[in-house]
Amino acid sequence: MAVDLSVNLAGLKLKNPVIVAAGNHTHDGATMARVAQWGPAAAITKTIVAQPVPDILPCFAQVNGGFLNTVLSTVYPAQQWWEKELPEARRGNDMAIIVNLAGRWPEEAAELAAQAEAAGADMIEVPTVCPHMKEILEAMFPDLELAQPVFTDCAPWAAMFKAVKDTVKIPVVAKFSGGFLHNVKDWARAAVDAGADGIDCCDSLGPGLSINIETGEPWLGGPRGVGGLTGPAIKPIVLRMVMEVAETVKVPIIGTGGITSYKDAVEYVMAGATAVGMATVGHVRGMEAYKKILNGIENFLADHGYSSLEDIRGLTLRRIKERRTHNRMAITRVIPPTVNDLCNGCGLCARVCVFDAIEMVDKRAVILNDKCYGCGLCVNVCGRPGAILQPYFEAA
Ligand SMILES: Cc1cc2nc3c(=O)[nH]c(=O)nc-3n(C[C@H](O)[C@H](O)[C@H](O)COP(=O)(O)O)c2cc1C
Repeated sequence: MAVDLSVNLAGLKLKNPVIVAAGNHTHDGATMARVAQWGPAAAITKTIVAQPVPDILPCFAQVNGGFLNTVLSTVYPAQQWWEKELPEARRGNDMAIIVNLAGRWPEEAAELAAQAEAAGADMIEVPTVCPHMKEILEAMFPDLELAQPVFTDCAPWAAMFKAVKDTVKIPVVAKFSGGFLHNVKDWARAAVDAGADGIDCCDSLGPGLSINIETGEPWLGGPRGVGGLTGPAIKPIVLRMVMEVAETVKVPIIGTGGITSYKDAVEYVMAGATAVGMATVGHVRGMEAYKKILNGIENFLADHGYSSLEDIRGLTLRRIKERRTHNRMAITRVIPPTVNDLCNGCGLCARVCVFDAIEMVDKRAVILNDKCYGCGLCVNVCGRPGAILQPYFEAA
């Protein structure tokens, strides 16, 4: 069956859900044009500001399960973006361009937004609070007394957002911070009240630290060597935040955070996202990662008999509602899993079972029902999908 991958992101028609998030694959026009060759429907520029600051180097550090960076915004003047980088980004491709921009005050943001629209941006994205902002500004302006970023007061950002929204006709989306861990619903309401046409959730978490143990030096430059955490480590948290945003407001969501495979992207759509953003995966695996994820999404939909992303969008929200309506909010009765012929006898499940409830018999895992606690660990660690089936997780 042919699969329709197109999505409607706040009126912007995208040929597929894959968006290259603001990062170093969108740091200039030539790189954006190169990334377009790998199939994403849209790319979001690095944050364009009126007064760019240089990057603090080294600015990247790969950590177990994630990535740290000290990058804050573009290093190029806004005028260069409008005159050179955006036209270059468009050359030879049909990728939509979303301009991410920030001002120090509402009027400055509105002015940048007007310039971006005049330069042909398809959409604008306004970021909120960056968790490693203080690290970078402290390095650039050591004499300034800088406060820690504030994740609780939506009002100053909402004023900035509204100024942008009131200035342009193209859609404007809010880019949330990973710092909105416990109040993302409040921010979602504030963003929609300020006129947001969509929400991109989210930017990095942190800040985090990684140390070179040969020298004791942090791997990153900057006063304390800390940076924003992105990549797989943040995905479960951001996925939960996306689900909460989807429960709270009706505007389309870009699910961004730790996507490294089509499976992550599908999870975001099931949690309610309309499109999916990714940066780190491309930085650590190369631009071909975007194409691989896009192909994987298409194959997943086709293999499961889905005709479009609409078929799975918000599926998890519905499943969660069913937990309530089917009285499955708290299962305390043990239902042991079953093992089938897909088991290849690797024995990992038996080694990790903390209840000592799995034995290997003739190179096959056997669940000891009287010892099984129904914890689900074996199902999750098994490298052969479908070899251990857990009735809890089957659709009602
Ligand atoms: C190197 C790098 C630079 C980034 N620069 C920006 C930026 O300029 N503006 C912004 O809003 N987000 C920026 N981000 C955040 C990403 O757009 C994205 O929200 C975040 O990395 C989470 O997605 P990921 O786990 O797929 O990387 C940057 C991320 C990375 C890794």
